[in-house]
Amino acid sequence: MKLLITCPFWLSSILSSELKFLWYKPYDTFQTWIFCDWDVSSVYSINIKSRIANKVYLSLWQASIDTFDTLFDFVNWLPFAKYIQAWQKISVTASSKNSKLSSTPSIQSIVTKSIIKNITNADWSQWYENPQQSEFEIYVFIQDDLCQIFLNTSWNSLHQRWYRTQTAEAPIKENVAAWLILLSWRKFRSNFYDPFCWSWTMCIEAAMIAKNIPPGINRKFAFQSFLDFDPSLFNKIKEDCNAKIFKDKKYQIFGWDIDSPTIDIAIQNAKNAWVYDTIKFETKDFFSLSELSWHMLSNPPYGKRLQDFDLNQIYSHIDKLFSNPDLTGWFITSYEGFATIIQNHYKNRLIFNWSDKCIFYTKQYSS
Ligand SMILES: C[S@@+](CC[C@H](N)C(=O)[O-])C[C@H]1O[C@@H](n2cnc3c(N)ncnc32)[C@H](O)[C@@H]1O
Repeated sequence: MKLLITCPFWLSSILSSELKFLWYKPYDTFQTWIFCDWDVSSVYSINIKSRIANKVYLSLWQASIDTFDTLFDFVNWLPFAKYIQAWQKISVTASSKNSKLSSTPSIQSIVTKSIIKNITNADWSQWYENPQQSEFEIYVFIQDDLCQIFLNTSWNSLHQRWYRTQTAEAPIKENVAAWLILLSWRKFRSNFYDPFCWSWTMCIEAAMIAKNIPPGINRKFAFQSFLDFDPSLFNKIKEDCNAKIFKDKKYQIFGWDIDSPTIDIAIQNAKNAWVYDTIKFETKDFFSLSELSWHMLSNPPYGKRLQDFDLNQIYSHIDKLFSNPDLTGWFITSYEGFATIIQNHYKNRLIFNWSDKCIFYTKQYSS
């Protein structure tokens, strides 16, 4: 049996490095997913510890299938009773490539009916969905008539960290922020700042990385409602993680923004994430900075959701500050006008923040 682990577009190579760092052996890396062998503890651990993954799916079975009848029988035979709680809402997603069964709505409907028959022993009158229960999500992937059935062990996407009880406008996706930090911040325990920090996502993720706080330490997961859930193993993994959190503090994380209407939400999020003591926020205009000195990683305005900023002025100022030959700095933007402004040389890398196609710019020191 194996795990299918999904991630945002083009992040699978860093997900692979992260899994190797956690002592797993990923294989078959593709743009948005990766496979890895599994045991129960790997399901719990990866869900709790991965900063990059979207969802962790358990592969239930695979078989060659070319009719809806065989699909129904195949699903009906799988051991769902081991996983599903009585009256969870069942959600089936499907995709099909180059296969005789190509209609995804039909695949979803057949698989849902077959799971219900499977767990009610064909007594349909027993079936109802309790809206209070978490969703039981199955992913069906058919390629070249090979049907693979996966069970979501994460519940909602892992980028939804437990600390974000309320959201603010234009946040960067948490696992994309973590990826940018892992990519750029070599010395995790040096000072770090984000001069356009808005809801503090970058600062909170950086502080959690610096303190070695796992992103899922306080989250709920789908596997907690599986009937074979092992709470003592789960608690043991969380206790081990807690013991490895760094309590000392030799660095600071600075967040600045010109506008702070979301400050109460950001403070609450930082407190929830156990990093409020590490982050120093100031209301500050970026144009008041005449030089940069520490690690700067930021997500400046793109002009898409947040209007009213003079983007040419902002990006010219970034470029001017980065002209210091001793400085290395990073930012992510979808603002295309930047290409016409720049004087410095930047390495760039295409990435997606939500559905915005962005470029991650790196200005390297040149002296
Ligand atoms: C794209 S948002 C940053 C989102 C943030 N990364 C997050 O996840 O919440 C851009 C931010 O730049 C701020 N901003 C715009 N002009 C600024 C300036 N001159 N100085 C400082 N902040 C500015 C805006 O107030 C806005 O919060």
